[in-house]
Amino acid sequence: MDIVRLTAVSKTYGTGSSAVTALDKVSLGFPEGSFTAVMGASGSGKSTLLQCAAGLERPSAGAVSVAGEDLARLRESALTRLRRETIGFVFQSYNLLPALTAEQNVGMPLRLAGHRPDARAVRAALSAVGLADRARHRPAELSGGQQQRVAIARALVAAPRVLFADEPTGALDSASSRMVLAILRTLVHERGQTIVMVTHDPVAAAHADRVVFLADGRLAGTLDRPDASTVAARLTSLETAGELVLDAGHAMPRGGGAMVRGGGDAMVRGGGDAMVRGGGDAMVRGGGDAMVRGGGDAMVRGGGDGSLLGEGPFPGGTSQMNEQVSESRPTWGASLAGMLRAKRTAGAAAC
Ligand SMILES: Nc1ncnc2c1ncn2[C@@H]1O[C@H](COP(=O)(O)OP(=O)(O)OP(=O)(O)O)[C@@H](O)[C@H]1O
Ligand SMILES: [Mg+2]
Repeated sequence: MDIVRLTAVSKTYGTGSSAVTALDKVSLGFPEGSFTAVMGASGSGKSTLLQCAAGLERPSAGAVSVAGEDLARLRESALTRLRRETIGFVFQSYNLLPALTAEQNVGMPLRLAGHRPDARAVRAALSAVGLADRARHRPAELSGGQQQRVAIARALVAAPRVLFADEPTGALDSASSRMVLAILRTLVHERGQTIVMVTHDPVAAAHADRVVFLADGRLAGTLDRPDASTVAARLTSLETAGELVLDAGHAMPRGGGAMVRGGGDAMVRGGGDAMVRGGGDAMVRGGGDAMVRGGGDAMVRGGGDGSLLGEGPFPGGTSQMNEQVSESRPTWGASLAGMLRAKRTAGAAAC
C-alpha cells in the first residue's frame, strides 16, 4: 500500500510573468516500508515535491494523501497533528533552533507532540548519528555536517512512519554519509518506516530501493534496485535531454542547454550552456557557459565563462569582447521577436 500518494500534483510559485511552475502534474506513490531517492538537476522541483508530500506546502492543483488522509480535506489543526505524528522532515537547510542545544533540538518534535522528551531516546538518536559528545552544543558551535546530523537525529527521535529527508548527506564526508545511509536503510528494513530522500549523489541513491527522476518539475522516469553507475548514466542523459532551441523568445530550461537564435533571453537554472545569437541576455545559474552574440548581457553564477560577442555591460564571470561580430551581426533577431518557434529535443523544458 502507498502510504504517501501524489495525484497530478502541480505547484506554481508567484503569478503572471514571474510565475514558476515548480511541479507539473506529478503522480507518484511511495509504498509503506520503501526507501526512495529523488534526483534531478538543481531547480527541478525535488524540495517542492517533498514539501507538498509532507503537507508543508499546499499544491496549486492535484491531491496528496498520507496514511489514507487527503491533506486538502484536513483542517489546519488536523494537518499539524498528522505532520507531528506521522511525518518526519530533514530540511535541506537543517532548520535547527539556534538558541537550543543539540539535545534540546532533537527533543523538539516530542515536546511539540505534547510529550516530555525521553532523555534516553534523545541520547540514542544523537549517538546513532555519532554526536553523543555534542549534546550540549548549540548549532553555532557545530560544524555544518554536525548540524545536519542533529537535524537527522531530530527527525528520527519520534520514529515517524514516513521520513522525508532533503539532501540529508549533502554536507557530510563519505564516512558520515555512509553512516547516515546505513541508519536510513535500517529504519526501512527493520522498522518498516518509509523514507523519501533527495540526493544529488548516485552512490547515496544506490542505497534506495527505487530512484525517481525529476526534470523541470515533471516526472522523468524511475529506476528500481538502482546501482550508482546506472543512476549516474540516467542523470547525464536527463541533463542532455533538457535542451531547448528557439528561433526567438525566451528559453528557460532548469537543466541542460538553452539557445535562442533570434532575439530574446536564455536562462539555465541548473548546469548547462545558454547562448543567444541575436540580442538579449544569457544567464546560467549552475555551472556552464553563457554566450551572447548580439547586444546584451551574459552572466554566469556557478562556474563557467560568459562570452559577450556584442556590446553591453557584463556583470559577472569572464568575458571576451568581439566588436567585429557586433558590427557584422546587429540585433537582427529582434525582428523575429514574438515568433516563438520552439524546436524541442527529447524531454524538452517548457519556456
Ligand atoms: N518559495 C518559492 N518562491 C518562488 N519560487 C520558488 C520557491 N521555492 C522554489 N521555487 C522555484 O521552484 C523551482 C523548484 O525549486 P526546488 O527548491 O523544488 O528545486 P530543487 O530541485 O530542490 O533544487 P536544488 O537541487 O537546488 O535544491 C525552482 O525554479 C525555484 O526557483
Ligand atoms: Mg532542493
